[in-house]
Amino acid sequence: MQMDPHTFARPDEVVVRHLELDLTVDFEKKEIRGTADLHLENKAQAKKLYLDTNGLIIERITLDSQDGDATFELGEPVRYLGRSLAISIQPETRVVRVHYATSPDALALQWLDPAQTSDKKKPFLYTQSQAILARSWIPCQDTPSVRSTYNARVQVPADLMAVMSAENPTSRNASGVYRFRMQHPIPTYLFALAVGDIEFRATSDRTGVYAEPSLVEKAAWEFAETPEMMKTVEKLYGPYRWGRYDVLVLPSSFPWGGMENPRLTFATPTLLAGDRSLVATIAHELAHSWSGNLITNASWNDFWLNEGFTNYLTYRIMEEVYGEHYSRMLAVLSFQDLQREVREFGPKNPDTHLKYNLAGRDPEDGVTGIPYEKGEYFLRTIEATTGRDRWDAFLKEYFDRFAFQSLTTEQFLSYFNEKFIGTNQELGESLRIKDWVYGPGIPDNTARVESDAFVKVDAVTRSWVEGKPATELETKPWSTQEWIHFLRHLPVSLDHQKMRELDHAFHFEGRNAEIRNEWLVQVVAKKYEPGYPDIEKFLSSQGRRKYVRLIFTELVRTPEGRAMALRIYEKIRPFYHSVARDTAEKVLSSRS
Ligand code: BES
Ligand code: ZN
Repeated sequence: MQMDPHTFARPDEVVVRHLELDLTVDFEKKEIRGTADLHLENKAQAKKLYLDTNGLIIERITLDSQDGDATFELGEPVRYLGRSLAISIQPETRVVRVHYATSPDALALQWLDPAQTSDKKKPFLYTQSQAILARSWIPCQDTPSVRSTYNARVQVPADLMAVMSAENPTSRNASGVYRFRMQHPIPTYLFALAVGDIEFRATSDRTGVYAEPSLVEKAAWEFAETPEMMKTVEKLYGPYRWGRYDVLVLPSSFPWGGMENPRLTFATPTLLAGDRSLVATIAHELAHSWSGNLITNASWNDFWLNEGFTNYLTYRIMEEVYGEHYSRMLAVLSFQDLQREVREFGPKNPDTHLKYNLAGRDPEDGVTGIPYEKGEYFLRTIEATTGRDRWDAFLKEYFDRFAFQSLTTEQFLSYFNEKFIGTNQELGESLRIKDWVYGPGIPDNTARVESDAFVKVDAVTRSWVEGKPATELETKPWSTQEWIHFLRHLPVSLDHQKMRELDHAFHFEGRNAEIRNEWLVQVVAKKYEPGYPDIEKFLSSQGRRKYVRLIFTELVRTPEGRAMALRIYEKIRPFYHSVARDTAEKVLSSRS
């Protein structure tokens, strides 16, 4: 049975248990070149090893310490998957060494000129391997069902530092050679490398930040509460098993809010709001150290096991550290995201099932509100139905039982049925597990959360609509979440004068990225032309897929909007990572 439709590998025959990388990073050629030693366990006396590649140049392959080259064959390119690499081996072959180089347009890699960094002095390189892009910089069994440890030796220009999802240096060395060790078995989508003018600041004995020099102090301040978050998850769900937890702040084209690379979360600089208002994203990436990195989805069809659990854990962290008032706002916003997503998909769309079928598609199509928010609300519903104590005890045991393993939805459900439901048929039925996991939309037994804070925001909105001047509204103590709620619930039609009044009173152009994004969505929806220049400014100042997707989706609803989106995209394209380019191009070519 093929468990993962997004790999050419056959890990049931031969499985890679460890990798040794020896790589040289060449900024001139935009190339990583070197060797990958794959340490094998051959379970089936197999004579072929199948690997994933995408755009790799395979130079030669040797087996164990033999002199001669092994024979290999690259398959025909398959959409999204790249090419299989079939290598002839012997049942007793222990190590396969692949000599290879990446192509300049390798999908995981973004090579940045100095001008594209924050400090504008040195070039920068970073990888983004999730979901199936690791194969564009390492020949590997690129499926989350396979886990391996790794070591690496990486040679970079002597004025730059390298960091990985592993044990990391804290300062530059004169040789430009860095060595890394990841002692825990991890899936390949968590292999990560960044090279640039990077500095380190500790924020506690086991946390810290890496960033370009001009941002490192700011980052240390913004993320200073990370140790408290760590203690919270440990108290609830068991020890942090990865040693250190650091955050690397990347240049602004990084396509994700955060990426949970083990020991070293990669993060967008748009989180540096100056007031710690966006740290829920750090809580989210940290939570992946349990849900995702410790227990991993076995295929991208099981993606909700990573993201739904992580969103649930994030809610628990945020409640504990910032209080219920705050976490309720986050919960209501999550539910709004979920409802919007289901509305866009249509209530019967199979893409609204938690268990996906992404065969033949790009797994990134699965990055929607469904695994995240529907997953979170499924788990909230379990919590609300049975009470927190029992549910927390189950989760803690779950993380322990399957630590460092990959799981399918079905394996999770069978464990859940055995340990949690047991003979309590009534509980099983009232949870409606099958409807949640294999059915569309939002089942009507869903947990619901309300926020007093948002009730107050709604009252403020009403008074403004009824004529109270914007400058006199009670918005002073509003958090980012309250602003988001406010902007999302403006009346459907507002004339330019009302929009201008808001803009002049609150200066959305100068607010943090989350608020600015919501404002710009409204600018488009209300066709508020004076706001248009800021759309281009915002989209050229950062390359987060989420914002690109939301703003472009709103723009393409009208022919004029689509024309504007195309014009803006033309300009910003060279600045974007392949992941954001892909998303932008999908939205721009969609029928409205
Ligand atoms: N692991 C994801 C990012 C991801 C998902 C990359 C799928 C590639 C394929 C990460 O943990 C994430 O969910 N990031 C969110 C942040 C968030 C707070 C929900 C993001 O980037 O928006
Ligand atoms: Zn996530």
